Amino acid sequence: MEILLTAEAIQKRVREMSEEISRDYRGKNLLLIGVLNGSFLFLADLVRNLSIPCAVDFISLQSYNGASSTGAVRTLLDLRREISDYCALIVEDIVDTGLTLSYLLNTLQARRPKSLEICVLADKAECRKVPVPIRYVGFTVPNRFLVGYGLDYEGQYRQLPYIGVLDAP
Ligand code: IMP
Repeated sequence: MEILLTAEAIQKRVREMSEEISRDYRGKNLLLIGVLNGSFLFLADLVRNLSIPCAVDFISLQSYNGASSTGAVRTLLDLRREISDYCALIVEDIVDTGLTLSYLLNTLQARRPKSLEICVLADKAECRKVPVPIRYVGFTVPNRFLVGYGLDYEGQYRQLPYIGVLDAP
């Protein structure tokens, strides 16, 4: 498998992102919202490098078949708390068309958090179908099928410490 982002490069970038988030959210009531399943490694590394307190919660979404064209997404598992007292930061593995994050932004915005921002590890910027405001981007990546560091192909490869390009998935 061709390695696109080494484990070292990912760890270095995640530390930088944590430092930036720690600066921006100092003194604020930060809630990190991990989007399952893909964000679990990224979120775990991100929080371990933060120098400020934070709460963590998770949400799980499912795209319907053909979601890349219709944008139909539903919530499989919801947050366990209200978010109106929090500065919420969505943590996602990768953004492609933007349809998933666009749905999530609308859903969470309706719950009136104090603020709502997005943090993604990888951005397939050239694939965007709907604009999504992303505050923190780890890496801009090409339009190829990526696996590892949380990203899967049919449930496999999530555990890899690096991100690779899957040949002909
Ligand atoms: P979007 O709604 O098109 O932005 O899709 C985002 C979701 O698609 C991510 O949360 C991933 O689950 C999945 N995804 C997009 N690109 C890849 C990839 O290259 N590898 C693995 N999953 C991907």
